[in-house]
Amino acid sequence: MAIPPSSAVAVVSVLSIFVFSFPATVLSETFRQIFLPPPAFGPESIAFESPGGAFYTGVSDGHIFKYQPLTGWTVFAFTSPNRSVAFCDGTTDPNKGPICGRPFGLAYNSFTKLLYIADAYYGLLVADSNGRLARQIATSAEGQPFVFLNAIDIDPVTGNVYFTDASAVYDLRNSSKAAQVNDSTARLLKYDPRTSQVTVLLRNLSRAVGLAVSRDGSFLLVSEAIGNRIRRYWLTGPKANTAEIFLSNINVVRPQDIKRTPSGGFWIAAASVKQDSQTLVSIRIRVDGSGRITEMASLEGQYGSTLISEVQESGLSLYVSSRNASFIGVYGP
Ligand SMILES: *[C@@H]1O[C@H](CO)[C@@H](O)[C@H](O)[C@H]1NC(C)=O
Ligand SMILES: *[C@@H]1O[C@H](CO)[C@@H](O)[C@H](O)[C@H]1NC(C)=O
Ligand SMILES: *[C@@H]1O[C@H](CO)[C@@H](O)[C@H](O)[C@H]1NC(C)=O
Ligand SMILES: *[C@@H]1O[C@H](CO)[C@@H](O)[C@H](O)[C@H]1NC(C)=O
Repeated sequence: MAIPPSSAVAVVSVLSIFVFSFPATVLSETFRQIFLPPPAFGPESIAFESPGGAFYTGVSDGHIFKYQPLTGWTVFAFTSPNRSVAFCDGTTDPNKGPICGRPFGLAYNSFTKLLYIADAYYGLLVADSNGRLARQIATSAEGQPFVFLNAIDIDPVTGNVYFTDASAVYDLRNSSKAAQVNDSTARLLKYDPRTSQVTVLLRNLSRAVGLAVSRDGSFLLVSEAIGNRIRRYWLTGPKANTAEIFLSNINVVRPQDIKRTPSGGFWIAAASVKQDSQTLVSIRIRVDGSGRITEMASLEGQYGSTLISEVQESGLSLYVSSRNASFIGVYGP
């Protein structure tokens, strides 16, 4: 089911076939929900300790929860030193984010047992296995403060940490404004844990909200939600330190997080405009390492009009997180 990534027409027609005519192909998978402990809300992303095992997720009140399949949820960590239980616990008020913290991207290094956190207001942080207050490790790069750290991933070969600042101007609370003015001030950044240095790899990105390093560490992908495209940035080889368009002309989708698959491809969480009602529905897209789309499926049957943030393959299942939901969705066993 490969289609050329350069052809917008082909993408649209595949969308209409897969998303709107045959949702039954998706519904045949089992779907279950792992509900957060109430009133926790808005799991943005998921970081697994091991395939199909324990995982972490950050929610709207600034907490990072840990889920263990046998024992369930516990509060693991938080990002803001100013966080108070009375003011923050359980809040879904976006205006409290600057005080309570808002953990967005999470990435777990299984060798060092450290959890790296991209917080929308508190920059880049790291938590050890004891959790509690995470340690802030960077709040700016090249003298320019972070405004909205968003996506994060760890190079599986070098341990370098790659992350995005979604805008130099518009934070999480200003997302619709950023779209209105076609903001393109996002940066792709790198943190080297050996030197503690942060470097800027790409600038002028258009709301960079997803990032995944390839399985072999030769490149990373970065998604631009306003720009509706995905770039490939080469980390090694003859094209190292250069970027190219990996997927574009996907006019009907808004790419969010990207996660690598165990087999060398990627899952992209996105949205699509439903032709009849002009409303957005969530879709998941699987691509291989050369940008060929190998699956595109609507999640409308399970999510309705709720937009998702991330799709991640772990163990035998696909885990879906959404900052607009109170649960983690699981497709498959
Ligand atoms: C956190 O609290 C300290 C001390 O009360 C204060 O100086 C600082 O401005 C506060 N930071 C935020 C982000 O509220
Ligand atoms: C972003 O939103 C906050 C809260 O509404 C507001 O104070 C701030 O001025 C906004 N920033 C921009 C650049 O619009
Ligand atoms: C938004 O900016 C991009 C460049 O980042 C440009 O290609 C595109 O045409 C702009 N879109 C609008 C609607 O202005
Ligand atoms: C890219 O961003 C820099 C600031 O980081 C800015 O000075 C420059 O004008 C931008 N370039 C374009 C083409 O927008």
